[in-house]
Order: sequence, then C-alpha cells, then structure tokens
Amino acid sequence: MFGYLISKIREAEFQDVPFRHLIIENFLSNEHFDAIVSSDEIRVPPQPDDESLFDDLFSRGYRIIGFPGCITDKDAYLEWHKSKSAQHGRNNPACEGFGMTLRLIEPQTPMIQELKAFLEAEEFNKALAEKFELPFEKTHADNGIQKYLDGYEISPHPDVRRKALTYMVNINPHPNADQLQHHTHYLKFTDRYNYVKEFWAGNPQIDRCWVPWPWCETVSEQRSNNSIVIFAPSNDTMHAVKANYNHLNGQRTQLYGNLWYKELHHGLPQFQWHEIDLPNTRAQREAQSAATPRPKARPSFVSKAKSIVPPGVKKALRAVTQPKPPVTPSKPTSTYVADRPGTSRKGQ
Ligand SMILES: [Fe+2]
Repeated sequence: MFGYLISKIREAEFQDVPFRHLIIENFLSNEHFDAIVSSDEIRVPPQPDDESLFDDLFSRGYRIIGFPGCITDKDAYLEWHKSKSAQHGRNNPACEGFGMTLRLIEPQTPMIQELKAFLEAEEFNKALAEKFELPFEKTHADNGIQKYLDGYEISPHPDVRRKALTYMVNINPHPNADQLQHHTHYLKFTDRYNYVKEFWAGNPQIDRCWVPWPWCETVSEQRSNNSIVIFAPSNDTMHAVKANYNHLNGQRTQLYGNLWYKELHHGLPQFQWHEIDLPNTRAQREAQSAATPRPKARPSFVSKAKSIVPPGVKKALRAVTQPKPPVTPSKPTSTYVADRPGTSRKGQ
C-alpha cells in the first residue's frame, strides 16, 4: 500500500541548507493522508483537561515513552503543566521546559496498522539507509507514530553519534496546525559559536550535546503538514523544538524514526554546552582575574578540551576566543554563562 513512498525517497534531491537533508512535501498521497489524519488514532476529539487527554490517548493505544526533551512521569508532568514554570536543568540545562511523548503501540484502524508495519519493515528502512549510503546491516531501526504534548522542548542539537539517520513526517490532525508553535526548527550556528561544529568534527571520540538556543539561528521550520525531512546526523545537523500550544484541541503528531548504529559510538564521553562555551568562559576568566589575584591554575574542562583539539581546530577556536582590538567591543549574543546555578549534567 505504501510502497510508492520508497520511490519518492529514491527520487528526491538532496538540499544543503542549513545542512544536507531531504525534504519532500506531500509525502503521502492525498487519499492516504486524509484517511490517516481522520483516523481514530490520530484525530482525537477535543478534551476538557490534561487528565482526560491522557485517558483518551491511552484508550486509543498510546503509551508514554522515554524521549529526548520529555519526562515519563505523568503525575510530574500534570503538576508542572498547571503552571508551566520555567525549570532550567530539570530535563536538560539548555532548556526551561519538558514535555511528554506518547507512541501508538496498539492501533486498531487497519490502515494505521499497515502504516505502522510499513515503517517497521526492512524494505523501508533499507531504502533510507541506501539513500544516505549508510551500512544498513550495522544499524537497527526504531520508529513509530508519536504525539508530543505541550512543553516538549529540545534545544538545538545535531543528534548523538550513535544515530545514523533521523526522519519525521508531520501528520497533524488539527486544521490550523501549521500556525502553531510546535514545529521542528532547522538551524545553523551563529558566527560566534560556529567553532563548536569544528570542535565536534575534530574530536570524533567525544559525543555531541545540546546547546542553548542563542548559539544558533533558525533557518527554516518544518511547518507544512504531510512533509518529511530526513537527514544523517553530523556535526552541523542542528535541529530543535519548543512546543507551546494547546494540546487539548489537537496534538503535534508525527511519523518519527531513527536508524541507530548497533555498536559504534557506545559510551562516548560528552562535553556539555557550558564546558565548551569558550566566549563566555574567557570573558568570565578575564573579569575574575581583573578583580582578584589569579589563584594557582587548575586545568578546567575547557583547557582539557583545548588540549585534545587538533591544530586546525585550535586555529578556529583562537579566532573566536582571542580578544579583539578594543575599538569595537563585540556584544555577546548569548545570555548563558558557564556553571549557571541549577544546571546539571543529566538529561542527555
Ligand atoms: Fe534530534
């Protein structure tokens, strides 16, 4: 039934802005898309409150799953969502919120059952790997039909090195979905933080992390319904989401999937964003040394990071971190500082 989707992927042309990816509009046929977003599993009637929404989604075969940017404790989510107070560090130090992701485990509608089986089948996942010239036999697929509730936030990140491929298809059932704030941003680093991708490129033994929003600028958003974006995570594949919408009337809904390397890149150390925030670290250090006599130097994470950076990358880092002539002092683009109170290393 869905075999034509493989042909569309094979025929699609790669785009290079802001990074190498495929985007295909009108991915599913109109007939299939209309049937999918009208199904009982995807189009949920408006709900009076969060508790009712959970009960309804559970009755339709959804289950809460662990997912980046989300928590799995329903009661904690319900409590937080009453006020949506900013909680930096609760889920990731680069974010102030967190959401909840539910995956459709037991669909009842025959077409949705078939769609789920298609996403899970080798034929589809092998075609994705071939398009991106990935070693399919060294990967395993993980995918599903997912709903993301309000508060879902994952700050700009390129994906960890174990992810070989990521794709997402918008199948939002609410008519004004493209106007709402719950879509995936595709971004590039600002000039000030462009060295980070060179740091990751020069240090393949270190995993990539989430970074604060001000380190990047949005180039595009995947707002259109029935569009698919596919990319092979690399050092520049920055993407992010910050959902802020009323999920009682309709939920951000996607076909989402990854190919994961089975063995490569397990257990890589990861420097968190505040450990590679060289512009702010340098500014802090200079302010500190101007105010107090310099204590005996103890190697910082940043100096450790620099010590393992290849010479080419060091040059790029110097261009960013060395002080400019005092004629036109540059204005910081980030309000984040290293060792921000309340941050933690968890949640990656
Ligand atoms: Fe991601």
